[in-house]
Amino acid sequence: MAAGQIGDTPVAHDVEATTAEFAADVRRALAGHPRRQLSSRYFYDPLGSALFDAICRLPWYRITRAETGLLTRYGAEILAALEPLGRVIELGAGSGEKLAVLLSARPPGAARLPVHLVDVSRAALNSAARTLGALGNVEVVAHQSRFLTWLETAGRPRRAEPAPGGRALAMFLGSNIGNFEPPAADALLARIRAMLQPGDAFLLGADLVKPEHDLRLAYDDPLGVTAAFNRNLLVRINRELGGEIDVGSFRHHVVWNREASRIEMYLVSTRAQRVRIAAADVDVSLEEGDAIWTESSHKYEAGDVVRMLERCGFARRAQWLDGQAGFALTLVGVTV
Ligand code: TRP
Repeated sequence: MAAGQIGDTPVAHDVEATTAEFAADVRRALAGHPRRQLSSRYFYDPLGSALFDAICRLPWYRITRAETGLLTRYGAEILAALEPLGRVIELGAGSGEKLAVLLSARPPGAARLPVHLVDVSRAALNSAARTLGALGNVEVVAHQSRFLTWLETAGRPRRAEPAPGGRALAMFLGSNIGNFEPPAADALLARIRAMLQPGDAFLLGADLVKPEHDLRLAYDDPLGVTAAFNRNLLVRINRELGGEIDVGSFRHHVVWNREASRIEMYLVSTRAQRVRIAAADVDVSLEEGDAIWTESSHKYEAGDVVRMLERCGFARRAQWLDGQAGFALTLVGVTV
């Protein structure tokens, strides 16, 4: 897809997965190499992004409200620690509402702030550009891209250009870090660290370990919205790759893996069936109970979050907790 425009906002580095990449990933996933697993970035087509926004409003999914609450309560304190703030980079900005909450704590006369939004979803970038644009004193640059691709553009760490106007703040919210396996999470954090300069800062949102009952309800809600979100992957495969998958013959399945401290989400075949996907060159037989692993969501102890960040080269500055919901917002800095 060529670089373009979202409203008045230029879209830089427009590198959404091509259909060929999607087809190759789906083929690998269904062949089970190395295991039957599909990358979670494919959840976020326009319907998937709308369903995810609905998940964030569910009474059982507390991450978004907890994090927004922390940003509302401590926004001024966070911003004060970052003076003079020269630019913001948010990975996975989604609807942009949380960043808007943080930035609305800036004083009325504050200078125009460059804000870079990196997200795989064009629909999400669209609404984020609108939400943040309404603040008036921000200058949005949208980057439609995977996080790693964006950070590694041209095969070398991207640098947040030395900002003459102040510090860079990178942010990764929503416990999106938990969707990476620990080694990949470390690699991503180290990449973010490599992009930043001494004096810059990084804000990470992470969901904490809590009772299993609460964890399961957050990912297997009684309204079935999360199930719809998960199964929408199959709808997308049918639409974009000419699949003939019987969407109704897969169920949403959630496991709490205590040893690995993560929620695992699967699509499980409810009967023996043949799956054909023309454009991905897929023709496989599945047994009843065969599962496709679609997502993991790791849960942390508050201290683990700090240790993970320190391991990746950051220095702890502050941590704010929502003890009720079990959520941590951690601010770290970059020192020489
Ligand atoms: N980062 C979110 C999380 O791990 C993403 C998410 C929420 C999600 N609900 C989901 C991903 C359901 C897949 C399926 O909590």
